[in-house]
Amino acid sequence: MMETVVSGIRSTGNLHLGNYFGALKNFLKMQKENNCFFFIADYHALTTHPKPGDLHGNIKQVLAEYLACGIDPEIATVFIQSDVPEVTELYLLLNMNAYVGELERTTSFKEKVRKYPDNINAGLLTYPVLMAADIIIHKANKVPVGKDQEQHLEMTRKFARRFNMIYGVDYFPEPDAYNFGRKLIKIPGLDGSGKMGKSEGNGIFLSDTPQEIRKKVMRAVTDTGPTARNQVPSEPVKNLFTIMKVVSDPSTVKYFTEKHASCEIRYGDLKKQLAEDIINVTDPIRKRINDILSDNKYLARVVREGAEKARMSASKTIREVREIIGYKPF
Ligand code: TYM
Repeated sequence: MMETVVSGIRSTGNLHLGNYFGALKNFLKMQKENNCFFFIADYHALTTHPKPGDLHGNIKQVLAEYLACGIDPEIATVFIQSDVPEVTELYLLLNMNAYVGELERTTSFKEKVRKYPDNINAGLLTYPVLMAADIIIHKANKVPVGKDQEQHLEMTRKFARRFNMIYGVDYFPEPDAYNFGRKLIKIPGLDGSGKMGKSEGNGIFLSDTPQEIRKKVMRAVTDTGPTARNQVPSEPVKNLFTIMKVVSDPSTVKYFTEKHASCEIRYGDLKKQLAEDIINVTDPIRKRINDILSDNKYLARVVREGAEKARMSASKTIREVREIIGYKPF
């Protein structure tokens, strides 16, 4: 069945393995058979106050990285969020039915309050509303994202359902967070705990050179080694196995799992193998990024055509939503 698929990534830094395996890879598999929209969330990026001098360069970098990964602008609609101002109108309309209490209880918001007590802006509070608007403005059914976005998707469903209920319509579908492997995934960082992130200093970027990747992986946190047969791996070691499961051959994972179980594992060997398997995934992408970045004419065309297609879909929704709410022309 042809589905409508929407996904996006904030333009707050280069793409890392988490973005690739959490969202992009699933999107790539879907783009041929479905009606797909993939965008750069550059309004969402403003919640962390980027400098004006950095904003455009960040967007351009992420766009080039999308294309280098294989998102095909001839078949999918690739666009920049701020090129589609219709989304801000839907955001405003949805805000009227979003409650401050439920927004304050969002895990990502609570985390931001804890981490950045000096920058709790209203944009952070209503972040899930803007995200819901991004998704339902194209009436999406499927949203390829990583595990960290699960709660945002639940809220998107809630806002869609609430709109339908308030106005007594069956207008917005309730979209699902999506992964081909069924379970949403979390790619861990190399620092032994938590997820891989753009600003945590624990990530491997698609634009990293092989030398950088080898250095980062060799420095990854492990432990002093298993001391008993079939010992459950510690958190940092489990994390390396999690990354290995997405980049390496199953036989490689099996080999090192058995070596760990029999206490014969040498973490140096595991890391060497892991680094090479990561490079295998990222290197073809990295090589394409620079070529694409230097082709300004191509990028300008992609962005222009993407905005046109996205606005067509978005403005149709806005027209219908205004009518449902009760706005009428004079
Ligand atoms: P962002 O920019 O933080 O991340 C983009 C995508 O990458 C996934 N991801 C991960 N997946 C697995 N393991 C990780 N360590 C990891 N880190 C990031 C995220 O789950 C996400 O799918 N709010 C979104 C951007 C957004 C959006 C949307 C996404 C705005 N509007 C509409 C989908 C639909 C965000 O901050 O993602």
